[in-house]
Amino acid sequence: MTILQAEELTKEYEERSILKKVTVAIRAKEAFALIGPTGSGKTTLIRMLDLLEMPTSGKVYFDNIDVTHNKQKQLHARRRMSYVQQKPVVFSMSVFDNIACGLKWRHENSKLIKHMVNDVLDLVEMGGFKTRNAKNLSGGEIQRVAIARALVTNPEILFLDEPTANLDPISTMKVEKVIHNVIRERKVAVIMATHDMVLGQQLAKRIGVLLDGRLMQVGSPSEIFSSPINQKVAEFVGVENMLSGKVIERNENVLTINVSNKRIQAMSSHLFANEVYVLIRPEDIIFSVSENVSSARNMLRGTISKLIEVGPLIRIEINCGFPLIGLLTRSSASELGLEIGKDIYASFKVTATHVIRRLILKNEEKHS
Ligand SMILES: Nc1ncnc2c1ncn2[C@@H]1O[C@H](COP(=O)(O)OP(=O)(O)OP(=O)(O)O)[C@@H](O)[C@H]1O
Ligand SMILES: [Mg+2]
Repeated sequence: MTILQAEELTKEYEERSILKKVTVAIRAKEAFALIGPTGSGKTTLIRMLDLLEMPTSGKVYFDNIDVTHNKQKQLHARRRMSYVQQKPVVFSMSVFDNIACGLKWRHENSKLIKHMVNDVLDLVEMGGFKTRNAKNLSGGEIQRVAIARALVTNPEILFLDEPTANLDPISTMKVEKVIHNVIRERKVAVIMATHDMVLGQQLAKRIGVLLDGRLMQVGSPSEIFSSPINQKVAEFVGVENMLSGKVIERNENVLTINVSNKRIQAMSSHLFANEVYVLIRPEDIIFSVSENVSSARNMLRGTISKLIEVGPLIRIEINCGFPLIGLLTRSSASELGLEIGKDIYASFKVTATHVIRRLILKNEEKHS
């Protein structure tokens, strides 16, 4: 069920276009991350969805009702949403009173207020801070108080704008755990803006990638990371193997692509460009010491140039005329006797690849 919908939202400031026809539907109780680099328009979009600001054009629907031009409907919708801004501000009073103020404004009775505040304090793991002056808390603690304050009114949508920006690693972990608690225990849609891809990937079921005011792609974290829709998204999410090549043959859905004079077979059903990038997930590359028989259609020989330990895994980089990155478990790495300078074979299936169009820069076009 859709709780909030944006239809072709645009926002201009002084004739500068900040949001460009953003269309997105948020489902009730889902965890949605809006990721994008700084200045891409995340805060602007969140303010628009939270009805704090009006779009230049386009519409916002809350609970399937168009609220774009109706102040009364906006007020009603806003009572069912909460927003934790990028740098939350707390009042110089106790943590308890900071959280209770929304309920006091709604004239709830004091017994209910006490119950509800204690409940959210537990959720954000700040039960021991009730009587502390909120002004004296650390950045991470303020963030957790702000989340509690936003949740105490039982909203249907919670907006979090960069909830872990500028926090140290320990505070970041605590805030992430709190967001996780909220997603698991509360019946609330959480929409968080972040430029931290790891946060988006770990906490959200769906990710929207906002680049330069355009919502480029919406999908599950694995879709976004393994099948970015275009070069800009692939670059932003930091796809590791992004090989520049040229299509030399098409056979139904299988393309043969020349990458630095090596032939790679890849799959694509609806791509007509010839200048492409081939994306290969590092975890889908199989390494072997001999050119053994493999059902995988791609087999490349390369020299090991880097071996880096990453937690329980080994990240391997081989040079096959271009760098290719893979991931191995420690045990398979030791079985293969990996060493820098040694030659090795890398194989991967056609289905482990993803092909996107390569944008050609103007001066590159002249030379090719
Ligand atoms: N009130 C305003 N007037 C003019 N320009 C604005 C206004 N608010 C935002 N902008 C511009 O809109 C663009 C997007 O800003 P926004 O704050 O939405 O980005 P963001 O993705 O949230 O960035 P960050 O990751 O740094 O928080 C920026 O270029 C910003 O300067
Ligand atoms: Mg912002």
